Amino acid sequence: MQIGSGALVATTVAKSVLQPRTLHAASRRVAPSDTVRFASIGTGIRGCEHLQASLAVPGVQCVGVCDLYDSRHTAAQEAVNNASVPATRDYRSILDRKDVDAIILATMDHNHRRIFLDACAAGKDVYCEKPMSHTVEDGFAMLEAAQKNKRMIAVGSQRVSSILYAKAKEIYDSGKLGEVFCINAYWDRNSPSGAWVYPIPPDASEKTIDWNAFLGDAPKHAFDPVRFFRWRCFTDYGEGLAGDLFVHLISGIHFITGTNTVAQRAQTSGGLFRWKDGREFPDLIQTFYDYPNFRVTLRCNLNNEGGEFIGFYGTKGTLIIKDTTLTFTPQDTRPQPEAYSIYGWPAELRNQYLAKWQEDHPMPAPLDFKVDEESEVYANPPGYNDVSDHQANFFHAVRTRKPVVENEIFGNHAAIGCHLANFSYANKAVAVWDEGSNKIVKG
Ligand SMILES: NC(=O)c1ccc[n+]([C@@H]2O[C@H](COP(=O)([O-])OP(=O)(O)OC[C@H]3O[C@@H](n4cnc5c(N)ncnc54)[C@H](O)[C@@H]3O)[C@@H](O)[C@H]2O)c1
Repeated sequence: MQIGSGALVATTVAKSVLQPRTLHAASRRVAPSDTVRFASIGTGIRGCEHLQASLAVPGVQCVGVCDLYDSRHTAAQEAVNNASVPATRDYRSILDRKDVDAIILATMDHNHRRIFLDACAAGKDVYCEKPMSHTVEDGFAMLEAAQKNKRMIAVGSQRVSSILYAKAKEIYDSGKLGEVFCINAYWDRNSPSGAWVYPIPPDASEKTIDWNAFLGDAPKHAFDPVRFFRWRCFTDYGEGLAGDLFVHLISGIHFITGTNTVAQRAQTSGGLFRWKDGREFPDLIQTFYDYPNFRVTLRCNLNNEGGEFIGFYGTKGTLIIKDTTLTFTPQDTRPQPEAYSIYGWPAELRNQYLAKWQEDHPMPAPLDFKVDEESEVYANPPGYNDVSDHQANFFHAVRTRKPVVENEIFGNHAAIGCHLANFSYANKAVAVWDEGSNKIVKG
């Protein structure tokens, strides 16, 4: 009996290289009156990346930079190729300027809230780096300020604007995956830089850094350059691996699946095994999330290099994003006769069953079989930068007043996912999202 001879064989084909998008405003000359004038507040590692990326975005101009550490004024001016762009330590003086339409906010996470609120009140649109909030309460205060002041907000998980993620969403929405109940993602690193052990610049001092402004609303603490430059390690300023990396994975998953809600429950395990340098967060974190229609498992660790991965496991196929490559592999879901348990039957019963099965499932003519189903593989073009795409989407919203996908609601939901993970880890308990009170409670 030749049942199953047309079995689907998944083979990998050559990668299709995705085409970069034409960025908004690129197809026409932008009149000076239509140019978006922005200033950057927080011009450290990310702020400088933004300034560089902005050079590729049509119709925008950086008109001011702001940072608490003086050497970062020079770094920002270098990043934007303009030594004369005004630089200041005082973000309020930027918000007072009438010629600033929007700000890119890339300070440490604990300072997002205050600057975001002041910027909204001053009528500025805000691109706020991820995670949007340092605490659940911060996120809701920011949401309210954005909505009350009718501001355009973009939150900075740039994968949401990436062409690779757009392709993943297209495949997900097409139904080719069938129903997806299980999503699994990780982001693993194995280097001092990956573990945020950044070098302290030799000119760092209380003279070159406004330490009190850095503390902001955080508890008072004596000047400590380790806390300033490696802030991700400390609960007063960052959220460890959850705020640094989970938020990208969660934002990508929410975008691709069209989810705009908070996970209902989260349970975290992990530990600090290797980087025992005074940090207050684990170097391994693994969280199980319950969403209404699927379950998500996330892992980040700083002790083994594994790159970035998201897998969507559906009833008809598997979609994998690994770093800058996307692969969709279909699964053979055509009806098959039972071929396992019937070997515990006597031959007579087995043969009866198989004969009946074939009667009920007449074989299609061999040529009707689509024998080779190929995996689809897509990759970003070399040098592709999704930060410019994400910025272009934000500046388009500033011009058109049409919100971006990753607005304050989306950003708040993704950040709450990080807070759920950390709450569960810190309390050694299941973290439950209580929608009535907008709070995390112990399960
Ligand atoms: N989207 C991404 O891929 C990505 C990558 C890296 C960082 N980030 C985010 O960007 C933000 C900044 O991270 P970073 O790595 O650039 O940190 P960083 O420490 O290199 O830079 C932060 C800068 O903010 C400045 N700052 C803090 N408070 C300020 C204030 N009140 N006024 C003016 N300047 C102030 C500090 O002086 C510092 O130079 C964080 O929210 C981080 O999570 C996002």
